[in-house]
Amino acid sequence: MDQYDSGGLGGLFDVPDQVLLNAQAPRRPVVESALPPVWGDRAELLIASGTLPARARALVPEWNRPPALMPSPNVRPGRKSGDNGPQALHNDRMVDRHFSRTELAELYDYFNHWNVSPQNDFYIDLVMQADSVLDVGCGTGKLHRVARERGHTGRLVGLDPAEAMLEVGRRDRDDVEWILGDLVEGPYDGETEPLEKGTFDLIVMSGHAFQVFTTDEELRANLASIRRLLSEDGRFVFETRNPAVRGWEAWSPERVRTVDGPEGRRATCVHRLREVQGDLVTFTSDYSVEDWDEPQVSRSTLRFPDAETVNGFLVEASLRVSAQYGYWDRSPLTEKSAEIITFARPA
Ligand SMILES: C[S@@+](CC[C@H](N)C(=O)[O-])C[C@H]1O[C@@H](n2cnc3c(N)ncnc32)[C@H](O)[C@@H]1O
Repeated sequence: MDQYDSGGLGGLFDVPDQVLLNAQAPRRPVVESALPPVWGDRAELLIASGTLPARARALVPEWNRPPALMPSPNVRPGRKSGDNGPQALHNDRMVDRHFSRTELAELYDYFNHWNVSPQNDFYIDLVMQADSVLDVGCGTGKLHRVARERGHTGRLVGLDPAEAMLEVGRRDRDDVEWILGDLVEGPYDGETEPLEKGTFDLIVMSGHAFQVFTTDEELRANLASIRRLLSEDGRFVFETRNPAVRGWEAWSPERVRTVDGPEGRRATCVHRLREVQGDLVTFTSDYSVEDWDEPQVSRSTLRFPDAETVNGFLVEASLRVSAQYGYWDRSPLTEKSAEIITFARPA
């Protein structure tokens, strides 16, 4: 094991209920409520009898509507586009609606605020120790924003293909390098210089961003770029959900999450599992905000590779695993671990 490594989200309800209930939002508290599994049916009955509150009524049609999928010629396996499927943003690269749509990206930090998962404290310690950090799939860039707030003086680069997510970070801080792009295409604007070889002491992928790589080809290409961008003693740190614990089974409408969203408006999110095919898990996320006419639905597919698969791809990319943990307290990785948290170094 690497001595240096032995020292400290996103979006889905992986965190234990207790954590959700105790979590403090940046400005407002988070409330988790549970609805019975038959909520959809019951709601329809209540609508028929005119007793369902307006806010809940707005949610129901979308919850019960089967997803409308429009096959597209440029779709990757497991990444179907359509009404609520991922959107092609650049050279047919697909990004889920909850990252690409402004009104949904605006909700991200409310549902994934700093204290919602111990992952943020884990990663910020690493970022604060490194001089130059690349956050791949940075989303709204909360790690880098907090690092600057805490006095980080080095280079902080946040890379993401979803402009709407980057915009949230950019609005908060202009002293982070925000790059619209991905590791394979590079910057999308044709002006920003591509990232230079051997530049970063630390590359992170947090909030399960690693799971957006759904094909072997995509994984190989992204890991090759990470290897190229890492300095010779740099580290790549990321996590992926452990498929052995089948976390997707909890992604059901029984769990409704309600937060005080932008301007104090109540925002609700519900996940529905749609399909499990090999290690690809497809689900929808229904978002509703108090004054919206109707809910917005985002369809996503994530890959759940096991540790052996992850490690195999790392080796292929000339990276070696220097430490692997099962949770944010650095407990050992076991069959029952929620996470596969990996530290990798150039081989
Ligand atoms: C669940 S969010 C995680 C955001 C952030 N890392 C966090 O911890 O809050 C996943 C992010 O991955 C981004 N993403 C999607 N496809 C990507 C790709 N090919 N390369 C890099 N990031 C990607 C999405 O736009 C989204 O912002």
